Amino acid sequence: MNTRIIKVDPIKPDMSSIALAGDIIREGGTVAFPTETVYGLGANAFSEEAASRIFEAKGRPKDNPLIVHLKGPDQLRMVSVVDDRVMRIAMKVWPGPVTFVLPKAGELPSSVTAGLATVAVRVPAHPVALALIDLSGTLIAAPSANLAGKPSPTTAQHVIEDLNGRVDAIIDAGETFFGVESTIVNLTVDPPVLLRPGALGIEELEPIVGRIIVPEEAQGYSESMVAIAPGMKYRHYAPTKKVVLVGRSENYLRVLKKSTECGRPAAICSEEIEPEVERMGIKSIIIGRESDLYTVARGLFSSLRKLDEIDADFGIAQPFSENGIGLAIMNRLRKASGHNIVNSPSELPSALNRQC
Ligand code: TXA
Ligand code: MG
Repeated sequence: MNTRIIKVDPIKPDMSSIALAGDIIREGGTVAFPTETVYGLGANAFSEEAASRIFEAKGRPKDNPLIVHLKGPDQLRMVSVVDDRVMRIAMKVWPGPVTFVLPKAGELPSSVTAGLATVAVRVPAHPVALALIDLSGTLIAAPSANLAGKPSPTTAQHVIEDLNGRVDAIIDAGETFFGVESTIVNLTVDPPVLLRPGALGIEELEPIVGRIIVPEEAQGYSESMVAIAPGMKYRHYAPTKKVVLVGRSENYLRVLKKSTECGRPAAICSEEIEPEVERMGIKSIIIGRESDLYTVARGLFSSLRKLDEIDADFGIAQPFSENGIGLAIMNRLRKASGHNIVNSPSELPSALNRQC
């Protein structure tokens, strides 16, 4: 398949270019597009055949449902059951990096919701995504635009690496704004339940939604297969090389030092700690600044991808605060490490499966 690359400005996109991508969606094709969180791989949400192309292109398991992207809360009733409370919440939060799970309504094909009685919906806060939904004349079902299991793409280049030749078009509008996916909240239960931490912290959501239950699974502590968002049970966000996450930051440099006896490490660390790592003669991949977790979120997935490209055997990742967007950062790092979390140098050999 010949993938068309369509380059546009993220803030003032050329509408005729986006109209072209909208035509592809309307005609049943697949288009990767930027949102404020990560790039999505979109298709017509009302076509079973179009939606199935998403699963095929990504190698995504069929039991993992997609998010339906709307251009505004007024489109909610096309796919879900909405009462006044939900409408009020939606009007306050959207456009924005939050996905709500609601009772399903209307004619959505079953592959989009993986046969569930609920549907995940959101209005993305990105001019290109909103224009694409508008010009496609339909709603767009989209998961993240990566191969299943890989870190989500935050640049068009990431999408090209994973999906070139597997999708009809890729809209290149540079880097996404947040760098981690939307926060998913189940509004079909009372109180609402967090299904996946994301770009908007629950501290910011609770004043709008009310108290939100945060189960251990949603934080990424549990390795259990009982996942509340179906997608969260799969191996995820993982580079090919092994990543070990250090549990407490005060142990980071000691564990890192020990890791040089196990092979060639790459430190996946903050800008603040990098000079120390450099002094130890260890290679580093800087995620962002610890003092500004938004920079860490933005650098997270490209850092994980970079690990596979550089000359190192494995990555040793530094932990971050779990406040605000930090909860999503730590959730993704726990998953990227396959729950290989160590707190002392002596735990390293078994975590790395190496003798040292
Ligand atoms: O920011 C984002 O959420 C990005 C952009 C493209 O919108 N999308 C994204 O989709 O990250 P992804 O690949 O995470 O897939 C959708 C997630 C999966 O974890 C899936 O299990 C969950 O949403 N999901 C979809 N429908 C659901 C439902 N009815 N109940 C619970 N979880 C659902
Ligand atoms: Mg995904």
